[in-house]
Amino acid sequence: MRIDIVTIFPEPLAAMLEYSIIGRARQKGALTVELHDLRRWTSDRHHSVDDYPYGGGPGMVMKAEPFVLAVEELQPQSGARRVIFPTPQGKVLTQELVEDLAAEEALIILCGHYEGVDERARRLVVTDEVSIGDYVVTGGELPALVIMDAVARLQPEVLGSVASADSESFSEGLLEHPQYTRPRSFRGLDVPEVLVGGHHEEIRKWQRRECLRRTWQRRPDLLRKAALDDDDLAFLRELEAQSAPLDDTVGERNWS
Ligand code: 6GU
Repeated sequence: MRIDIVTIFPEPLAAMLEYSIIGRARQKGALTVELHDLRRWTSDRHHSVDDYPYGGGPGMVMKAEPFVLAVEELQPQSGARRVIFPTPQGKVLTQELVEDLAAEEALIILCGHYEGVDERARRLVVTDEVSIGDYVVTGGELPALVIMDAVARLQPEVLGSVASADSESFSEGLLEHPQYTRPRSFRGLDVPEVLVGGHHEEIRKWQRRECLRRTWQRRPDLLRKAALDDDDLAFLRELEAQSAPLDDTVGERNWS
């Protein structure tokens, strides 16, 4: 997969992309990420990418033309069908949307800044407006990295020897179980006995139950969409029966 990111801050993004799983994936050719300086598509002496807003008001607005020219140059090169604009006004990023984007051969991500981007850039070239959650960050770069990383890790060969993408959180709609490494005892806290016993079936069962327990405790909303078998449902009923209702939201839990 090829991902083109258009930004006024290519250098700090470049540094982020050199490390860890994404860095290694790019090195071995499992992933192509190209960074482009938005100012390349400006033609005035000062390489301006923003201007005063029509109608007045505080702050500056990013001009439409550099983004439109960038897409018109990059789209024929990469064949990207989808142009993503990170914005709090977009569709909230979920693993489902990540999977949908990951199926593309190429993506273009346009990073906005200041008070916003001229509406015509959005109208003319953007296909997907995407938010990374209900809070506001100062620019599109961090959201672009979040989107890129989530999509990249689903590409074949990217995770390599790291556990397969689909045994992890959310692929089955559950949170991950707790993990431990050496030493076996730390500050009076011991690794659960079952994990050191070498009984693989028992370990698998314990891990599944801890996934369920975590999800039930922290994100009961996720249980409604999770793929649960009869053993899972029996365990959840046990949890429900044991715990005194904490508050009146407990009665709204409905995972079956
Ligand atoms: Cl995509 N951009 C900005 N600036 N803030 C956000 C966001 C995006 N998603 C959540 N907050």
